[in-house]
Amino acid sequence: MGSAQAVNWAKVPAKKIMLLYPAQTSFERLMSQERHSGRKRFLEGKNCLACHGDIDEHPVGESLVHAEPAKEPTPILGKPGFLDLQVQTAHDAENLYVRLEFDPGKQPDAGMDKDFETKVSMMMDDGTVPDSARAGCWVACHDDAASMARGKDTVTKYLYSSRIPGGGGDIKTPEDLEKMKAAGEYLEYWQARLNPGAKPVAVDGYVLDKRAANTDPVVKTEATRSKAGVWAVIFTRKLMAGAGHKDIVPGKTYTIGFSVHAGHTAKRFHYVSYERTLVLDDGKADFVATAN
Ligand code: HEC
Repeated sequence: MGSAQAVNWAKVPAKKIMLLYPAQTSFERLMSQERHSGRKRFLEGKNCLACHGDIDEHPVGESLVHAEPAKEPTPILGKPGFLDLQVQTAHDAENLYVRLEFDPGKQPDAGMDKDFETKVSMMMDDGTVPDSARAGCWVACHDDAASMARGKDTVTKYLYSSRIPGGGGDIKTPEDLEKMKAAGEYLEYWQARLNPGAKPVAVDGYVLDKRAANTDPVVKTEATRSKAGVWAVIFTRKLMAGAGHKDIVPGKTYTIGFSVHAGHTAKRFHYVSYERTLVLDDGKADFVATAN
């Protein structure tokens, strides 16, 4: 049995990933020429990260967190505009380990999520979901999701391909969704729900027509919080978890993205990253998880 405790984390290089507060910036908004001058180049093939990554997360987050109502109709007073993660990855014969360290800083209590102070999430794709390698989490971020500009309370993250083309947001039939699921066309969604001094609660889910929990969860999590308020969270995920989960194997490139809900927030009131890549053992990627 592999374990996250057996990894010598002091020897694993950490990489800083900057997360920004996105306000109501949905994929649809980014694909509107009047509202996003990056649209044209994105459609021509340039990825989000190539224009924004490790560059403007801090100033853009600071501007969006207190932006005008057209961008942020319900700002949270005193909320910081960004948050940084230190990310480490490793694996053994059985599991992938992802360790995330972050300081939420001074966070006002938004009172949206009464149960958890902080939630840290990761989404993962293996190249199956259209555009996810280029736009990361934004492929699941839509205008009609709860708390977004045209939000409906019942709508969560979803993939475009789960909707009937031209159907005004109508969802495909259960049979069609089942076929997509079997073909691996979903994002994996891992979350650690945190309260100081309490055991973290792990969520192992996926995003297809909605965000849903897996019935056979394999994601485990552990977390500690320092006296200074810095969280260290580790996700443990079986490399080969069977049906309903993606195989994590050497030689394949995975797209990953991170988010943090801090200060009892929910829905869109989180910090998010641009898309990053992950490989096992060796290759060209933002994160190369090596054997431990
Ligand atoms: C060719 C470069 C380029 C690409 C590719 C690009 N952007 Fe942008 N983006 C910009 C520029 C320039 C701005 C600032 C001016 C504007 O909003 O039009 C911007 C603005 C933004 C903002 C701030 C919006 C606001 O209202 O202040 C966000 C968030 C953003 N982009 C996210 C993304 C995401 C996500 C993607 C990928 C789906 C992406 N961008 C692709 C260049 C780019």
